[in-house]
Amino acid sequence: MSSVLRSYKGIYPEVGERVYIDPTSVLVGDITLGNDVSIWPLVAARGDVNHIRIGDRSNVQDGSVLHVTHKNKENPEGYPLIIGEDVTVGHKVMLHGCTVGNKVLVGMGAIVLDGAIIEDEVMVGAGSLVPPGKRLESGYLYVGSPVKQARPLKEEERAFLQKSSDNYVATKNDYIEEAN
Ligand SMILES: CC(C)(COP(=O)(O)OP(=O)(O)OC[C@H]1O[C@@H](n2cnc3c(N)ncnc32)[C@H](O)[C@@H]1OP(=O)(O)O)[C@@H](O)C(=O)NCCC(=O)NCCS
Repeated sequence: MSSVLRSYKGIYPEVGERVYIDPTSVLVGDITLGNDVSIWPLVAARGDVNHIRIGDRSNVQDGSVLHVTHKNKENPEGYPLIIGEDVTVGHKVMLHGCTVGNKVLVGMGAIVLDGAIIEDEVMVGAGSLVPPGKRLESGYLYVGSPVKQARPLKEEERAFLQKSSDNYVATKNDYIEEAN
């Protein structure tokens, strides 16, 4: 049994093509990674009491923690964790039972709580806290604890969202090559 990809109740993570998963990370249970995803050192992701989905080309950086909330009578779907495509999850981020759109940057050390929704093309500043159920509107920078809408993203920041994803795809390709 791989110590990196582990089963929970018989369900193993499913991994797309050209994915890099650092051997020090741990992914458990109902997790699906799209193509060209990268999971960096010391990431802990538990898709046990609900599922985790990570879209193509997204990266989850060092020390981040990904978890979910179980289903119950009051909340029949619970809170899965859904991460879109081309998302950059910075170092030591906590994503818990939330939904993250496409081309989002979650700054290092940010905490995003259950039921929060981050729409496409949003930047969340380093160290921010996104409260439960909060929706962050597409095209804006959010900072603070709790987060507040700071300002619309500049054109170069919007471009950087894709560039950040592209950079990580290139870097993980180097890592894959190095490992072979
Ligand atoms: C928010 C961020 C994008 C900078 O935005 P910016 O508009 O260029 O920031 P500025 O330096 O002009 O600062 C504007 C104000 O926001 C404050 N600020 C900057 N970053 C902040 C943050 N993360 N949280 C709270 N306040 C922040 C500044 O202190 C400044 O406050 P002031 O006006 O009272 O002096 C950047 O600081 C950040 O957090 N980037 C995330 C980087 C990251 O984690 N990348 C992950 C991949 S490795």
